[in-house]
Amino acid sequence: MEFHVYDTAREACEAAGFLFAAQITRKGDSILGLATGSTPIPAYEMMVEWHKRGVLDFSRIRTFNLDEYVGIDYKNPLSYHAFMEENLFGKVNIRKENIHLPSGNAAADGEAYDKMIRDAGGIDIQLLGIGRNGHIGFNEPADEFTYGTHVVTLTEDTIEANARFFKSADEVPRQAISMGVGNIMAAKCVVLVATGANKAQAVYDTIRGPITPRVPASILQLHPCCVILADREAASLMKD
Ligand code: PGA
Repeated sequence: MEFHVYDTAREACEAAGFLFAAQITRKGDSILGLATGSTPIPAYEMMVEWHKRGVLDFSRIRTFNLDEYVGIDYKNPLSYHAFMEENLFGKVNIRKENIHLPSGNAAADGEAYDKMIRDAGGIDIQLLGIGRNGHIGFNEPADEFTYGTHVVTLTEDTIEANARFFKSADEVPRQAISMGVGNIMAAKCVVLVATGANKAQAVYDTIRGPITPRVPASILQLHPCCVILADREAASLMKD
């Protein structure tokens, strides 16, 4: 596991942007695993900027997002479909048919999503944020790891953390559909970005703690190609 610390949150996120740009440059038909949330926004800004300057071509890129809320319309600006359109897809030359997000409708089919990922040849590089409770995607702390894409009931901690995007915590959907830990571990390379003091314990537990489904990100200790990029605040408990 590679661990890099940066002075600012922006620098940590930009380092992720560099890794994705390198992947797209090296392999024009890469399969990207993408994430939503506040953390990856600067990485997407960099990719958009480099696309505008003619450096990055998304015409053969295929993408699979980690997760989506259940029961939220795709047109709702708070859906992850809308987030991705706003921050990346609407601003680069990716083909609509190459974009995949799990479906948040009532008949969400996780196995079909897993099959699409497998049939595409697997994810080359997976971007991850981390929840302050150690979740990756919406794999919440649990008694066991879940392999494939599945519907999850969000924890109170996650609902509270995500309430900032909604008018109130009451409006945050209670369920989401998320790639499983197995999908994430099957990616050829994983890039996790953690910023801010409220992620410090999760970063410490992920890197130094036991591998446990109580800290879902801790499984990344077993990944053969995992890079963790943190700002100083998120790395503050990593003393040596
Ligand atoms: P954040 O979310 O980037 O908005 O902090 C990360 C996550 O919950 O995975």
